[in-house]
Amino acid sequence: MNIAILASGNGSNFEAIAKAIRRGQIRAEVKLLITDKPQAFARFRAKKLKIKDIFINPDNYPSRLLFDKKLVEVLKIDKIDLVVLAGYMRILSPYFVKKYKNKILNIHPSLLPRFKGVNAIARAFNHGSKLTGVTVHFVDSKVDHGPVILQSSILIKKSMKLKSLEKEIHKLEHKLYPLAIKLFAEKKLKVRGRKVAIN
Ligand code: GRF
Repeated sequence: MNIAILASGNGSNFEAIAKAIRRGQIRAEVKLLITDKPQAFARFRAKKLKIKDIFINPDNYPSRLLFDKKLVEVLKIDKIDLVVLAGYMRILSPYFVKKYKNKILNIHPSLLPRFKGVNAIARAFNHGSKLTGVTVHFVDSKVDHGPVILQSSILIKKSMKLKSLEKEIHKLEHKLYPLAIKLFAEKKLKVRGRKVAIN
């Protein structure tokens, strides 16, 4: 199974997935990293991991659709079976979502549908939530909305600081995302409407 990872920033999930594959945890290959930000730290990780890294400059494409058409072109070259969003900050066009229906995954640092969108960890913390977590889901045309594959929770203890919650969330992400990808690679996920059955 050929994977492309799309990231805009740090890329710690990208690295965790690539390493899980190299450990033999998932039968797949990360064929390439695609970024929309020239300075994304994920690109340095790709160099270190010797994974092909492609930067597509949004400034060269007058619309979201044209950008995503370029994306599809690039994905086709490497015969990509699964698109993994890992801190990818661009909204995908309906064209792209349709093209890769049920073949795009995303990870979000909250228990969806709570705290969709940016700064989810801090928002859950500042809200005074006692429980938060991580969600891996299929991507549909709405942001942080598609069918949920896996969720895992974290208790926010009274003494906990935001920094340590962030650390725990990321640690959990680095386990949960590879697991969801493994289930996908083993064809164990069946999507029926909003529900994902795990066989
Ligand atoms: C993660 O918290 C992920 O849940 C969210 O963006 C962040 C990306 O982190 N979608 P990283 O770039 O993988 O370190």
